[in-house]
Amino acid sequence: MTEKNRVVLVTGAGSKRGIGRAIALYMAKEGYDIIIADMDFNGAKETAEMVSTLGRKSFAIEANVTDEASVKYMVDAAVKSMGKIDILVNCAGITQPIKVLDTTLEDWNKIMSVNLTGTFLVSKAVLPGMKANKFGRIISISSVSGKRGGGVYGGAHYSASKAGVLGFSKALARECVLDGVTVNCICPGLVATDIRKGLSDEIEKATWKAIPMERPGTTDEVACAVAFLASEDAGYITGEDIDVNGGSHMD
Ligand SMILES: NC(=O)c1ccc[n+]([C@@H]2O[C@H](COP(=O)([O-])OP(=O)(O)OC[C@H]3O[C@@H](n4cnc5c(N)ncnc54)[C@H](O)[C@@H]3O)[C@@H](O)[C@H]2O)c1
Repeated sequence: MTEKNRVVLVTGAGSKRGIGRAIALYMAKEGYDIIIADMDFNGAKETAEMVSTLGRKSFAIEANVTDEASVKYMVDAAVKSMGKIDILVNCAGITQPIKVLDTTLEDWNKIMSVNLTGTFLVSKAVLPGMKANKFGRIISISSVSGKRGGGVYGGAHYSASKAGVLGFSKALARECVLDGVTVNCICPGLVATDIRKGLSDEIEKATWKAIPMERPGTTDEVACAVAFLASEDAGYITGEDIDVNGGSHMD
């Protein structure tokens, strides 16, 4: 069930074939208004136009989730334009499929700052409004890599950042348990998007073979799980994570 006039903020929703854009469009079709934040402003604007053609309100804004001032500006501007933020989807993320011995401290810090620090900063910025409204949903896109290690999905730094997102979300869920705010994660397996553009064909084929369903997931299959956790009816679910991985990891 979708309550009227719920507003969703999706970070990292500017990418053409990305999970964030699919979430924005899926949620718009479900009747939500959508704020799209991305470092790629043109991509964000394009997603916002697509949301508008679906008959929902949209607002596109450039933001760097690693920068606290940029995040604050983004959240203030979004609330000014759309009135409130009911649901946050932390989707902005980067990966780098390299081995630990090839990982520099700079590589490590970059992955951590987007995937983990970004999730912290945006969640912290929207939380006061959610608490005041006694309603909120924070849904973060972690990864199968955060549970079972990366392999071809990304390096150890990527796995560590996504495991961090799971731990952060459980802790925040406990903190918010009496505030009407639920905090959950989605753990996708391999999804056919541009995030993996560094992977060779050989690695890509080997990856498909390793998935029990023998195919990558679609962006809509991830969006569908997000929409479920965002719904009013999912209000008793918090500190949980949903695997969307074609059977490649079960826990
Ligand atoms: N594609 C997969 O196989 C897969 C699997 C598991 C998890 N994920 C996760 O899903 C999320 C989306 O991935 P995707 O495959 O759609 O990737 P993508 O590269 O298509 O999209 C990522 C988006 O994040 C934005 N972004 C990057 N750094 C940012 C920053 N500092 N501030 C704001 N925006 C920033 C990019 O501009 C881009 O639009 C990521 O968190 C990723 O780790 C993806």
